[in-house]
Formats: sequence, structure tokens, C-alpha cells
Amino acid sequence: MNSLHPTWIEIDLAAITNNCAHIIRETGTALLAVVKGDAYGHGAVEVSKAAVAGGVDWLGVARFGEARELRQSGIETPVLVLGMASPNEVDEAIAKNVTLTLHSVESMRLYSERARSANRTVRVHLKIDTGMGRLGILAGDCSLFTRQAVAAGGIVIDGMYSHLAMAEEQDKLNDIQYERFQLAVNAMEAAGLRPRWVHLANSGAAFSLPKTRLDMVRVGNVILGLRIRIGQALPEYYRPALTWKAQLASCRDLPPGWGVGYGQSYKTKGGEIIGVVPVGFGDGLRQIPGNQVLIDGQKAAVAGRLCLDQCMVQLQKHYPMGEEVVIIGKQGNSAIWVHDLAALYQISQVDFTTLIHKRVPRIYV
Ligand SMILES: Cc1ncc(COP(=O)(O)O)c(C=O)c1O
Repeated sequence: MNSLHPTWIEIDLAAITNNCAHIIRETGTALLAVVKGDAYGHGAVEVSKAAVAGGVDWLGVARFGEARELRQSGIETPVLVLGMASPNEVDEAIAKNVTLTLHSVESMRLYSERARSANRTVRVHLKIDTGMGRLGILAGDCSLFTRQAVAAGGIVIDGMYSHLAMAEEQDKLNDIQYERFQLAVNAMEAAGLRPRWVHLANSGAAFSLPKTRLDMVRVGNVILGLRIRIGQALPEYYRPALTWKAQLASCRDLPPGWGVGYGQSYKTKGGEIIGVVPVGFGDGLRQIPGNQVLIDGQKAAVAGRLCLDQCMVQLQKHYPMGEEVVIIGKQGNSAIWVHDLAALYQISQVDFTTLIHKRVPRIYV
């Protein structure tokens, strides 16, 4: 196998471009691609460029530092910082034309003061807390708060948004949050203050609850081809972007009753062929029984505990060093996807992908 690395991740940028174009077509709204957390571990700059090629209007990050990284790579698409901007980041956000989230009286005072002292304006989206209990003001306070922000000076309210706490489950809370958000939007409209971009839906709501689409959907999972819910497939024209591969490090016959791994947590039943794969919990796999990999189009079970950077697998026949091993992806007629590992580990898909360690090189194809 012709690879420079024992293990690596391939990110299919055409899949991301394709997924974005499909979301825009299917929802009929603008799309903000959420690329926070290094695009859930896929690589924020490359994913953003592929998303822009797919027609997104906005990019969303959690922190200003992530927005700076996009600007430094030459991306000029509007960027919204969904989380906090610290006091010493606001000047740079104004200079780099990055939109901030206005979520409290303190953030209003900070933004206004920084913008006025630079003789500039800061663009913001107003965050409404409709039931997430995270950042935001309450819907009932919306129009009064907006008037105060306008009076403070230096602030241009370009959008307003809220975030759903249970969009992955079809729960009645989604409707309750939608109604609360609608109250805020109506109050803004009545006061002649409705901003250009009104948005609420993440992946789950964008596909399951069309009324939440409004002016724009904010999507992370589906741009990467990850599922909305672990147990529910996306239409087949959405393609997973991430494949994780490795090269087989070794393949040996071990005698019956031979201990494998730390604590000899597995003992061979009879004579067994045991392969060594250069991937472990230090790369992002979790120490949970049931891990498998693909070799030669077949699933091979991990024997015993994972090591930090290797694991041992049970094989049916001998393979040479360098044989292709798939950790995530398709090989022959078999596949292991992010949602399979998320189900095994009982975590969300992004909890898994975001924590695939940096030392696993990302190759963009
Ligand atoms: C405010 C906000 N909007 C949208 C998203 C995107 O969510 P998803 O990846 O489920 O589409 C996130 C992600 O957590 C978020 O924090």
C-alpha cells in the first residue's frame, strides 16, 4: 500500500461541496455551515472552502480564534462567532469583519464601547435563549434590549437566532422553542427592527421540522455527511466525508492460550492469527468492548484492550505488512461508519470525530 503514514484520515471535499448544495436545494433557504471545533475534527479551513464551493452564505464558529484562522486562510465569506468573544478580541473582530453574537447586557456594553472607540461599527446576531439555557436573552426582553443596543451606538444587528436543545429527538420542546422564538421575531417586526437573518434550525430541525428553516439553517453534521440521528440514514445522495485508514503493522500465528495486550485481557482460544493495527485510544478510539476494523472486506474484531497507539485484531488468514485496514469507511461490501462507533460508544457522532487526535494526519482528496 502506497501511504506515507501508518494511519491517516481522508476527507472527501467533493462530498462536502455536494452535501452543502443538496441542503440548500432541499431546505430552500440560505445555509450557514457550522465549522466549529475544527469542523468537528475534519479540518475547518478545508471544509469551509469546500462548503463555500457548495454555495453556503455563512460560516459559523464557536470562538473568535477559529474565525481568525478562516480569515487568515483567505476566506472572505461572512463568519458568525456563535460563542463568546473576549474583550481583547473585539477590536480584531471588527477589523476582520467577523460577526459576533450579542447575548447579554455585558456583551452589548463591550461591543458598543469597542466599536465607538474605533469609530467603527460591530456587526452582531442577537441570541435568544428559548430553552437551551446557554447564551442569550429571553424572548420577552428582545425588543427593549434591541432598542438599548441601538441607543448604545456602534452596533449593527444583522441577525437574530436561537438554538434548539432537543432537535435530534422529535420532542415537543422543539415546538415550544419555535413558538418562543416566533414571539421574539414578531416583537422585533412590530417594532420595525426585524434583522436580515433570522435563524433557528440545526441539522435535526432543518430536516425534521421545516417550519424552523426561516431565513437560514445552521448545519454541522449533515454538511459532513454525518447522520441527524444515529439510527436514521440520510438520503443516499448525502455522502460521508470522513474515512479513516491504517496499514497492518504485523500479522503472526500465536499459540493456544497466549495472552494478548496489557493485562493479557484476551487469551487465544486455539492457535490464532493476530494482526497488529497502529491505531489506539490515543488516536480517538474508545476503550469499550466491541471495536472492529475492516481488512480484506471483512470485519475483524479487536482482541483485548486497546493500547495507546495500537490494537490487536483476530484474522482469518495471513496478510502482509502494509495491508489496508479501514477503521471508518467502506471496504468491499463491508462498512463501519461514524454512527456505528457512536452507537457502540453511546456518544454523539461529533463527540467521536472531534476527538480524533491531531496526530492522525488529515489528507484532503
Ligand atoms: C448554535 C449552533 N447552531 C448550529 C449547530 C449545528 O448543529 P448540527 O451539527 O447538529 O447541525 C451547533 C452545533 O452544536 C450550534 O452550537
